[in-house]
Amino acid sequence: MEKKNNFDLDKIDFSHLVPKSNYKKPSEQEFSAFKTKVEHLINLDLTHYKSNQMERRINTLMNRNGIDNLMVYYNLLKKDPEKLREFINMLTINVTEFFRNKDKFDELEKDHLPDIIKNTVNIKVWSAGCSIGAEIYSLAMLLDKHGVLNKTELIASDFDKEILKRAQSGIYAENELKLLDKAYTKYFTPVESDNKKFQISKRLISSVKFERRDLLNSTFEKNFDLILCRNVVIYFTEEAKDELYQKFYDSLKPGGILFIGSTERINNYKEIGFNLTSSFFYKK
Ligand SMILES: C[S@@+](CC[C@H](N)C(=O)[O-])C[C@H]1O[C@@H](n2cnc3c(N)ncnc32)[C@H](O)[C@@H]1O
Repeated sequence: MEKKNNFDLDKIDFSHLVPKSNYKKPSEQEFSAFKTKVEHLINLDLTHYKSNQMERRINTLMNRNGIDNLMVYYNLLKKDPEKLREFINMLTINVTEFFRNKDKFDELEKDHLPDIIKNTVNIKVWSAGCSIGAEIYSLAMLLDKHGVLNKTELIASDFDKEILKRAQSGIYAENELKLLDKAYTKYFTPVESDNKKFQISKRLISSVKFERRDLLNSTFEKNFDLILCRNVVIYFTEEAKDELYQKFYDSLKPGGILFIGSTERINNYKEIGFNLTSSFFYKK
Protein backbone atom coordinates (compact mmCIF):
# COMPACT_ATOMS: atom_id res chain seq x y z
CA MET A 1 0.00 0.00 0.00
CA GLU A 2 1.19 3.51 -0.70
CA LYS A 3 2.71 5.51 2.16
CA LYS A 4 -0.01 7.89 3.30
CA ASN A 5 1.69 9.50 6.29
CA ASN A 6 4.66 11.73 6.85
CA PHE A 7 6.88 9.15 8.52
CA ASP A 8 10.00 7.92 6.84
CA LEU A 9 9.81 4.21 7.66
CA ASP A 10 13.52 3.89 7.04
CA LYS A 11 14.25 6.23 9.92
CA ILE A 12 12.16 4.38 12.49
CA ASP A 13 13.93 1.76 14.57
CA PHE A 14 11.92 -1.47 14.34
CA SER A 15 14.69 -3.58 15.84
CA HIS A 16 12.66 -4.27 19.02
CA LEU A 17 10.07 -6.08 16.84
CA VAL A 18 12.41 -8.68 15.41
CA PRO A 19 14.33 -11.48 17.12
CA LYS A 20 17.56 -10.25 18.62
CA SER A 21 20.80 -11.43 17.12
CA ASN A 22 24.40 -10.54 17.93
CA TYR A 23 24.44 -8.08 15.07
CA LYS A 24 27.39 -5.74 15.14
CA LYS A 25 27.41 -2.83 12.70
CA PRO A 26 29.67 -3.88 9.82
CA SER A 27 32.65 -1.73 8.94
CA GLU A 28 32.52 0.30 5.74
CA GLN A 29 34.86 -2.22 4.08
CA GLU A 30 32.69 -5.18 5.10
CA PHE A 31 29.58 -3.49 3.77
CA SER A 32 31.28 -2.53 0.55
CA ALA A 33 32.58 -6.10 0.02
CA PHE A 34 29.05 -7.42 0.61
CA LYS A 35 27.62 -4.92 -1.88
CA THR A 36 30.11 -5.88 -4.57
CA LYS A 37 29.31 -9.58 -4.20
CA VAL A 38 25.55 -8.99 -4.19
CA GLU A 39 25.82 -6.74 -7.25
CA HIS A 40 27.16 -9.71 -9.18
CA LEU A 41 24.48 -11.98 -7.81
CA ILE A 42 21.55 -9.77 -8.83
CA ASN A 43 23.21 -7.93 -11.71
CA LEU A 44 22.37 -4.45 -10.38
CA ASP A 45 24.67 -1.52 -9.69
CA LEU A 46 24.14 -0.58 -6.03
CA THR A 47 26.67 2.27 -5.87
CA HIS A 48 23.96 4.89 -6.33
CA TYR A 49 21.59 3.69 -3.62
CA LYS A 50 21.68 5.61 -0.34
CA SER A 51 23.96 3.50 1.87
CA ASN A 52 22.42 4.23 5.27
CA GLN A 53 18.92 3.31 4.22
CA MET A 54 20.08 0.20 2.42
CA GLU A 55 22.18 -0.90 5.38
CA ARG A 56 19.27 -0.38 7.78
CA ARG A 57 16.97 -2.49 5.65
CA ILE A 58 19.58 -5.22 5.16
CA ASN A 59 20.04 -5.24 8.92
CA THR A 60 16.29 -5.75 9.40
CA LEU A 61 16.31 -8.70 6.97
CA MET A 62 19.36 -10.26 8.62
CA ASN A 63 17.71 -9.91 12.01
CA ARG A 64 14.55 -11.53 10.66
CA ASN A 65 16.65 -14.47 9.48
CA GLY A 66 18.61 -14.67 12.75
CA ILE A 67 21.89 -13.82 10.99
CA ASP A 68 24.45 -11.42 12.42
CA ASN A 69 27.19 -11.54 9.82
CA LEU A 70 27.08 -10.05 6.34
CA MET A 71 29.07 -12.82 4.63
CA VAL A 72 26.88 -15.51 6.21
CA TYR A 73 23.90 -13.56 4.88
CA TYR A 74 25.52 -13.34 1.43
CA ASN A 75 26.03 -17.12 1.38
CA LEU A 76 22.37 -17.61 2.28
CA LEU A 77 21.32 -15.31 -0.59
CA LYS A 78 23.55 -17.24 -2.95
CA LYS A 79 22.03 -20.64 -2.21
CA ASP A 80 18.40 -19.84 -1.32
CA PRO A 81 16.31 -18.33 -4.18
CA GLU A 82 13.47 -17.44 -1.79
CA LYS A 83 15.79 -15.44 0.44
CA LEU A 84 17.24 -13.76 -2.63
CA ARG A 85 13.70 -12.85 -3.71
CA GLU A 86 13.04 -11.41 -0.24
CA PHE A 87 16.22 -9.36 -0.55
CA ILE A 88 15.32 -8.03 -4.02
CA ASN A 89 11.80 -7.16 -2.84
CA MET A 90 13.27 -5.25 0.07
CA LEU A 91 15.57 -3.36 -2.25
CA THR A 92 13.08 -2.49 -4.93
CA ILE A 93 9.70 -2.17 -3.23
CA ASN A 94 7.57 -2.88 -6.25
CA VAL A 95 4.24 -1.59 -4.91
CA THR A 96 2.16 -0.14 -7.72
CA GLU A 97 -1.42 0.20 -8.92
CA PHE A 98 -3.39 1.01 -12.06
CA PHE A 99 -3.76 4.77 -12.59
CA ARG A 100 -1.74 5.42 -9.44
CA ASN A 101 -2.65 8.94 -8.20
CA LYS A 102 -5.65 9.07 -10.50
CA ASP A 103 -5.87 12.87 -10.37
CA LYS A 104 -2.43 13.02 -12.01
CA PHE A 105 -3.45 10.60 -14.77
CA ASP A 106 -6.55 12.79 -15.30
CA GLU A 107 -4.21 15.76 -15.64
CA LEU A 108 -2.04 13.85 -18.08
CA GLU A 109 -5.10 13.01 -20.16
CA LYS A 110 -6.55 16.53 -20.08
CA ASP A 111 -3.48 18.78 -20.25
CA HIS A 112 -0.72 16.85 -21.99
CA LEU A 113 -2.09 14.01 -24.09
CA PRO A 114 -3.99 16.27 -26.53
CA ASP A 115 -0.75 18.05 -27.54
CA ILE A 116 1.16 14.79 -27.82
CA ILE A 117 -1.57 13.31 -30.01
CA LYS A 118 -1.95 16.45 -32.14
CA ASN A 119 1.74 17.01 -32.79
CA THR A 120 2.97 13.47 -33.24
CA VAL A 121 2.74 10.97 -36.06
CA ASN A 122 4.26 8.13 -34.07
CA ILE A 123 4.05 8.47 -30.30
CA LYS A 124 6.78 6.97 -28.14
CA VAL A 125 6.33 6.42 -24.37
CA TRP A 126 8.38 4.73 -21.65
CA SER A 127 7.47 3.52 -18.19
CA ALA A 128 10.87 3.40 -16.44
CA GLY A 129 10.65 1.18 -13.34
CA CYS A 130 7.39 -0.44 -14.46
CA SER A 131 7.05 -3.10 -11.73
CA ILE A 132 4.16 -5.49 -12.57
CA GLY A 133 3.04 -3.36 -15.52
CA ALA A 134 0.07 -1.52 -14.00
CA GLU A 135 1.53 1.82 -15.04
CA ILE A 136 2.24 1.00 -18.70
CA TYR A 137 -1.11 -0.80 -19.13
CA SER A 138 -2.89 2.24 -17.62
CA LEU A 139 -1.25 4.31 -20.34
CA ALA A 140 -2.09 1.75 -23.01
CA MET A 141 -5.77 1.85 -21.99
CA LEU A 142 -5.74 5.64 -22.01
CA LEU A 143 -4.13 5.78 -25.45
CA ASP A 144 -6.58 3.19 -26.75
CA LYS A 145 -9.47 5.26 -25.41
CA HIS A 146 -8.16 8.13 -27.55
CA GLY A 147 -7.74 5.87 -30.58
CA VAL A 148 -3.95 6.24 -30.80
CA LEU A 149 -2.66 2.99 -29.32
CA ASN A 150 -1.87 1.61 -32.77
CA LYS A 151 0.43 4.52 -33.54
CA THR A 152 2.24 4.37 -30.20
CA GLU A 153 5.45 2.57 -29.30
CA LEU A 154 5.23 1.61 -25.62
CA ILE A 155 8.34 0.58 -23.71
CA ALA A 156 8.33 -0.64 -20.11
CA SER A 157 11.50 -1.45 -18.22
CA ASP A 158 12.56 -2.68 -14.83
CA PHE A 159 15.74 -4.13 -13.46
CA ASP A 160 13.88 -7.04 -11.88
CA LYS A 161 13.49 -9.98 -14.29
CA GLU A 162 10.81 -11.75 -12.23
CA ILE A 163 8.63 -8.67 -11.99
CA LEU A 164 8.95 -8.18 -15.76
CA LYS A 165 7.67 -11.73 -16.31
CA ARG A 166 4.60 -10.87 -14.25
CA ALA A 167 4.12 -7.63 -16.15
CA GLN A 168 4.33 -9.46 -19.45
CA SER A 169 1.77 -12.06 -18.37
CA GLY A 170 -0.73 -9.22 -17.82
CA ILE A 171 -2.44 -11.27 -15.10
CA TYR A 172 -3.78 -9.54 -12.01
CA ALA A 173 -5.66 -10.59 -8.90
CA GLU A 174 -9.18 -9.30 -8.32
CA ASN A 175 -8.06 -6.99 -5.52
CA GLU A 176 -5.43 -5.36 -7.77
CA LEU A 177 -8.26 -4.22 -10.04
CA LYS A 178 -10.79 -3.15 -7.47
CA LEU A 179 -10.09 0.59 -7.83
CA LEU A 180 -10.08 0.46 -11.62
CA ASP A 181 -12.56 2.77 -13.32
CA LYS A 182 -15.54 0.84 -14.75
CA ALA A 183 -14.71 2.16 -18.24
CA TYR A 184 -11.53 0.07 -18.23
CA THR A 185 -12.83 -3.25 -16.91
CA LYS A 186 -13.68 -4.26 -20.49
CA TYR A 187 -9.95 -4.87 -21.06
CA PHE A 188 -9.84 -7.72 -18.52
CA THR A 189 -11.14 -11.27 -18.82
CA PRO A 190 -11.12 -13.96 -16.13
CA VAL A 191 -8.32 -16.49 -16.32
CA GLU A 192 -9.79 -19.93 -17.08
CA SER A 193 -7.87 -21.83 -14.42
CA ASP A 194 -8.52 -19.29 -11.67
CA ASN A 195 -11.58 -17.07 -11.76
CA LYS A 196 -10.15 -14.77 -9.10
CA LYS A 197 -7.54 -13.64 -11.60
CA PHE A 198 -7.93 -11.54 -14.71
CA GLN A 199 -5.79 -11.08 -17.77
CA ILE A 200 -5.52 -7.82 -19.65
CA SER A 201 -6.30 -8.01 -23.37
CA LYS A 202 -3.63 -9.68 -25.49
CA ARG A 203 -3.79 -6.69 -27.82
CA LEU A 204 -2.57 -4.46 -24.99
CA ILE A 205 0.08 -6.95 -23.86
CA SER A 206 1.51 -7.18 -27.36
CA SER A 207 1.54 -3.39 -27.70
CA VAL A 208 4.25 -3.14 -25.01
CA LYS A 209 7.94 -3.93 -25.36
CA PHE A 210 9.25 -5.08 -21.96
CA GLU A 211 12.96 -4.70 -21.28
CA ARG A 212 15.29 -5.48 -18.43
CA ARG A 213 17.20 -2.30 -17.70
CA ASP A 214 19.15 -0.92 -14.74
CA LEU A 215 18.35 2.79 -14.87
CA LEU A 216 21.57 3.61 -13.07
CA ASN A 217 23.76 1.78 -15.47
CA SER A 218 22.51 1.85 -19.05
CA THR A 219 22.16 4.07 -22.08
CA PHE A 220 18.70 5.28 -22.97
CA GLU A 221 16.82 5.39 -26.26
CA LYS A 222 15.91 8.78 -27.70
CA ASN A 223 12.84 10.55 -29.08
CA PHE A 224 10.31 9.89 -26.34
CA ASP A 225 7.14 11.99 -26.20
CA LEU A 226 6.44 10.87 -22.65
CA ILE A 227 8.53 9.22 -19.94
CA LEU A 228 7.05 8.06 -16.65
CA CYS A 229 9.52 7.46 -13.84
CA ARG A 230 7.41 7.34 -10.71
CA ASN A 231 8.19 6.01 -7.26
CA VAL A 232 11.49 4.52 -8.41
CA VAL A 233 14.16 6.96 -7.26
CA ILE A 234 13.32 7.09 -3.53
CA TYR A 235 16.47 5.24 -2.51
CA PHE A 236 18.82 6.76 -5.10
CA THR A 237 21.45 9.25 -3.97
CA GLU A 238 20.95 12.91 -4.94
CA GLU A 239 23.82 12.67 -7.47
CA ALA A 240 22.27 9.59 -9.07
CA LYS A 241 18.90 11.37 -9.35
CA ASP A 242 20.52 14.44 -10.95
CA GLU A 243 22.24 12.24 -13.50
CA LEU A 244 19.09 10.23 -14.20
CA TYR A 245 16.88 13.27 -14.75
CA GLN A 246 19.48 14.72 -17.12
CA LYS A 247 19.46 11.44 -19.07
CA PHE A 248 15.65 11.48 -19.24
CA TYR A 249 15.83 15.06 -20.53
CA ASP A 250 18.26 13.99 -23.26
CA SER A 251 15.94 11.11 -24.20
CA LEU A 252 12.86 13.29 -24.69
CA LYS A 253 11.87 15.02 -27.91
CA PRO A 254 11.61 18.80 -27.65
CA GLY A 255 8.21 19.37 -26.00
CA GLY A 256 8.32 15.88 -24.46
CA ILE A 257 7.03 15.31 -20.92
CA LEU A 258 8.64 13.65 -17.89
CA PHE A 259 5.96 12.51 -15.41
CA ILE A 260 7.32 11.77 -11.90
CA GLY A 261 5.87 10.40 -8.66
CA SER A 262 3.59 12.36 -6.38
CA THR A 263 6.11 12.56 -3.54
CA GLU A 264 8.98 13.56 -5.83
CA ARG A 265 10.41 16.76 -7.24
CA ILE A 266 13.34 17.73 -9.46
CA ASN A 267 15.16 20.47 -7.59
CA ASN A 268 17.47 21.52 -10.41
CA TYR A 269 14.94 21.20 -13.24
CA LYS A 270 15.78 24.68 -14.59
CA GLU A 271 19.49 23.91 -14.87
CA ILE A 272 18.65 20.71 -16.75
CA GLY A 273 16.45 22.71 -19.14
CA PHE A 274 12.97 21.55 -18.08
CA ASN A 275 9.91 23.75 -17.64
CA LEU A 276 7.64 22.77 -14.77
CA THR A 277 4.18 22.75 -16.34
CA SER A 278 2.45 21.68 -13.11
CA SER A 279 3.58 19.63 -10.13
CA PHE A 280 5.04 16.32 -11.30
CA PHE A 281 5.05 17.17 -15.03
CA TYR A 282 8.28 18.52 -16.54
CA LYS A 283 8.43 19.62 -20.16
CA LYS A 284 11.54 19.70 -22.35
C1 LIG B 1 7.54 1.22 -6.41
S1 LIG B 1 7.79 0.51 -8.00
C2 LIG B 1 7.07 1.76 -9.00
C3 LIG B 1 6.18 1.22 -10.08
C4 LIG B 1 5.45 2.29 -10.89
N1 LIG B 1 6.39 3.16 -11.55
C5 LIG B 1 4.52 3.08 -10.02
O1 LIG B 1 4.78 4.24 -9.73
O2 LIG B 1 3.49 2.54 -9.60
C6 LIG B 1 9.53 0.73 -8.23
C7 LIG B 1 10.11 -0.14 -9.33
O3 LIG B 1 11.38 0.40 -9.68
C8 LIG B 1 12.26 -0.69 -9.97
N2 LIG B 1 13.65 -0.26 -9.79
C9 LIG B 1 14.31 0.07 -8.64
N3 LIG B 1 15.59 0.38 -8.89
C10 LIG B 1 15.75 0.26 -10.23
C11 LIG B 1 16.86 0.43 -11.11
N4 LIG B 1 18.04 0.81 -10.66
N5 LIG B 1 16.67 0.22 -12.44
C12 LIG B 1 15.46 -0.16 -12.90
N6 LIG B 1 14.37 -0.35 -12.13
C13 LIG B 1 14.51 -0.15 -10.81
C14 LIG B 1 11.85 -1.75 -8.97
O4 LIG B 1 12.24 -3.05 -9.39
C15 LIG B 1 10.33 -1.57 -8.90
O5 LIG B 1 9.65 -2.47 -9.74
